[in-house]
Amino acid sequence: MRHKLVIGNWKMNGSRAANTALLSGIVAGLNDFGADCAVCVPAPYLAQCQAELAGTPVRWGGQDLSVHACGAYTGEVSAAMLLDFGASYVLCGHSERRAYHHESDELVAQKTVAALAAGLRPVVCVGESLAQREAGQTEDVICAQLRAVLEVIAAEDVAKMVLAYEPVWAIGTGQTATPQIAQDAHRFLRNCLADKNAAAAATVQILYGGSMKPENAKELMAQPDIDGGLIGGAALKATDFLGIIQAV
Ligand code: PGA
Repeated sequence: MRHKLVIGNWKMNGSRAANTALLSGIVAGLNDFGADCAVCVPAPYLAQCQAELAGTPVRWGGQDLSVHACGAYTGEVSAAMLLDFGASYVLCGHSERRAYHHESDELVAQKTVAALAAGLRPVVCVGESLAQREAGQTEDVICAQLRAVLEVIAAEDVAKMVLAYEPVWAIGTGQTATPQIAQDAHRFLRNCLADKNAAAAATVQILYGGSMKPENAKELMAQPDIDGGLIGGAALKATDFLGIIQAV
């Protein structure tokens, strides 16, 4: 039985004061909901998460990492730096990184390798654009994105990753994938994982992301291959984030 996991992706939002209010609201409202919970925050706020979340059930992580260990890479953040601040997770290949920072499938795969090598849990994000869905290319696109990662990681590392299916047309648009559309993609991705490591594929948490809210979370989470959510907008309000966790 896979445990449910809900991760908040704050994107480029937050301030120290707002973060304290949000984090304390989440911690105060967390009951024994039976779901794991984490927030992926802008790098400057990792120290704040470490200070304010240590000893709570809420984990934290980064939104990106460098493929390099250290050196002359201005602006980049290494896996070791994330770990230095107690991070457990790191997003790899979020569609906004792919779109605005031209991250290729190969680069995302290398970032996943760097995260795994450091002992961070990579949350590998895949998803098709609206044009790709309309052209009937969804499975080809998400398969290629995932396969690039599976080609370069060891079979035994499959179990250490988290996968997130985030259709680009659903991110921040208010247009959520139907539970059936999401389930079909999740099942397809799990089959792709199984090509690499069948036993591990059954254990990998596959999260849905794209306009998930308290109102639609329950139906999505009820699908057999949806193991949680990667939440953007609704992760910025404690009541919404908690509402999604509660829907599990
Ligand atoms: P959204 O973002 O929940 O605001 O659609 C999800 C994501 O980008 O991870």
